[in-house]
Amino acid sequence: MANILFITCNLKSRERSRSLTIGNEFLTRYMGNYPEARIEMLDLYRDHIQRIDVDVLSGWEKLRGGDSFDSLADDEQRKIGRIGRLADQFVAADKYVFVTPMWNLGFPAELKMYIDTVCIVGKTFTYTDRGPVGLLSGMGKKCLHIHSCGGFHSGSADDHSVPYLKSIMGFMGVEDFKSIMVEGTDALPHKAEEFMNKALVESREAADVF
Ligand SMILES: Cc1cc2nc3c(=O)[nH]c(=O)nc-3n(C[C@H](O)[C@H](O)[C@H](O)COP(=O)(O)O)c2cc1C
Repeated sequence: MANILFITCNLKSRERSRSLTIGNEFLTRYMGNYPEARIEMLDLYRDHIQRIDVDVLSGWEKLRGGDSFDSLADDEQRKIGRIGRLADQFVAADKYVFVTPMWNLGFPAELKMYIDTVCIVGKTFTYTDRGPVGLLSGMGKKCLHIHSCGGFHSGSADDHSVPYLKSIMGFMGVEDFKSIMVEGTDALPHKAEEFMNKALVESREAADVF
């Protein structure tokens, strides 16, 4: 039974969000195909993603120096504990679906905050003589990225969204990465419906084989 982590990053309602609409199409089809799958939803705006702040850095430094977790200050324990639970949830998943909008050639900051909670030494990567190595490698994990851009960016040097997510997932050892993009819906509004329909078809096809 596959364990899917379905990660959304959007302030809008589904009805007003193109990426959430496509993500929902994928999810509905996937659940119909694989009713036994275990699906965990993570909303990066509403589910409290702990950012790396001064308490987290000081707590990590104390742990590296040999202090016990119980000896850390309350804020350090609470924040590092939350990061640990997010990282453990990420490691436990077999498959990841990220549903995101493009913001200023990248992602909303909440996605980067989340990446910083799951890129944890000893959990998702480690350092070796050959440099960092992803600890999730060879486990058959896979990632689908559903992404919406108002303009056209795919393949261009100014796209810091899809290439970044692909790269950081590969860094942790999740090499099977596929993306579905809807682009140009704001730039060419008269073609928005056509672009959406194409992405909806792609999302149903992806759900049949994910
Ligand atoms: C703050 C902000 C920044 C944006 N930056 C870009 C951008 O750099 N490139 C682009 O093509 N569209 C940009 N857009 C447009 C969105 O990517 C587009 O509306 C997309 O459909 C949003 O996805 P959603 O409908 O799922 O929210 C931006 C929108 C907002 C609100």
